[in-house]
Amino acid sequence: MATNPRIFDDNSAFEEAAAAVVAETLAGAVGERGRAAIALAGGGTPRGLYNRLGGESWRERIPWERVDLFWGDERCVPSDHPESNFRMVEETLLSKLALLPERIHRVPTELGAEKAAAAYAEELWEVLGEEARFDLVLLGLGDDGHTASLFPRTPRLRDEERWVVTTRSPQPPHRRVSLTLRVLNAARRVVFLVRGASKAAAVARVVGRAAADDEEGDVPPAALVRPAAGEPLWILDRSAAGLLPTADPSVPGEEREGGER
Ligand code: 6PG
Repeated sequence: MATNPRIFDDNSAFEEAAAAVVAETLAGAVGERGRAAIALAGGGTPRGLYNRLGGESWRERIPWERVDLFWGDERCVPSDHPESNFRMVEETLLSKLALLPERIHRVPTELGAEKAAAAYAEELWEVLGEEARFDLVLLGLGDDGHTASLFPRTPRLRDEERWVVTTRSPQPPHRRVSLTLRVLNAARRVVFLVRGASKAAAVARVVGRAAADDEEGDVPPAALVRPAAGEPLWILDRSAAGLLPTADPSVPGEEREGGER
């Protein structure tokens, strides 16, 4: 049985493992249903993965022409702004693929936060239908336990109806648009990509957390990502896994069994 979390000692192994999961999941979805939909993570961690997916060794292994790309969240800045998650993906991945424009579904931040969220939800419905079910959702983790742009004590964190909400990040850019837990938890597969010692405490709070603890007031939003289709897969570097009880530093090699979850 594949291990979870999967812990890697160097960036290349981390990115290669993540690329293999993305390729396997998207190619499998296209094989089964003729198309696939992915929600991409923002922030800095996935940059290397996206560069790799657009590179020679991986580009041809994914049927990109049948894949609809969305973003898990977006900062309310222009799409060419240095802090834009769309711009980050454009630089690292889209610039290397000849994707049809209709396959690229960015958050239209030029409309302003609320209208952008409404338009994005509409596009989700048009492409994914009433289930809003992604084949794959890639997520990062903040050191406060946030994921996408769902922050601790976000007012609509547990909204069961909406698919997209506007939120406020403690870090600038403050205004955000984010998929909700309702959509994240409808996904066929969710993968967290987490690197760095600054995330170790958040990883330890979230990975393996019992659902029973979800009622606590300060539950890390990432801990509420509990897809009906199965537990999220965690791809970690050794630093981010450093406080996990099962991270056994004595086990050599790039991938250590981080214990079953
Ligand atoms: C964003 C992301 C956010 C990110 C985490 C981790 O828009 O910033 O969606 O949830 O994944 O904050 O960010 P890093 O990968 O930069 O550490």
